[in-house]
Amino acid sequence: MEKTFFMIKPDAVRRGLIGEVLSRIEKRGFVIERLELCQADENLLKAHYAALVDEPFFPDLLAYMTSGPLVIGVMFGNDVIASWRLMMGATKPQEALPGTIRGDFAQAAGANQSIENVVHGSDSAASAKREIGLWFNEV
Ligand code: RTP
Ligand code: MG
Repeated sequence: MEKTFFMIKPDAVRRGLIGEVLSRIEKRGFVIERLELCQADENLLKAHYAALVDEPFFPDLLAYMTSGPLVIGVMFGNDVIASWRLMMGATKPQEALPGTIRGDFAQAAGANQSIENVVHGSDSAASAKREIGLWFNEV
C-alpha cells in the first residue's frame, strides 16, 4: 500500500492543532504508522528542502521550521500521496480552499516572508521514499 511522509509544522503545534490534523487523517481512513514530536535540525531541513535552498525565502523557511517542535509521521492508504496533498490545500493559504487544512487554519504570510501553512506532505512517490528515509532512517 502507498505511504507518504507528513509533518505538522511548528505554527500548528504552537496553536494546539496536532489533534485536529491527526483527527482528519484518521477520519479519512489513512493509517498512521510512525509518529514523533521532534525539533528539526538545520542540516536535516536543508536536505529535506534541497530543491529550495537557493530560494530567497529559504532563510525565513529555516527560521520558521526551527521555531519550535514539529510532528513527523508516516501514513499509508490508497492513493495517500495525492489525497493528502488535496487535504492540505494550496501552498499559499490565501489560495487554499475552505475545507482544506491550510484553507481552514492558515492565513497569508505577514511581515515575515515565510509561509506558515500548518502541514507538509510528500509530493511524489520518490519524495515520499526519500523523506521517510531522511527523517526515520528507513526505506
Ligand atoms: P511542503 O513541501 O512544505 O509540503 O509545501 P509545498 O509542497 O506546498 O510547497 P513547496 O514549494 O515545496 O515549499 C515548501 C515550503 O516553503 C515555504 N515557502 N515559502 N515565501 C515563499 O514564497 C515560500 N514559498 C514556499 C512554505 O512553507 C512551503 O510549504
Ligand atoms: Mg513541497
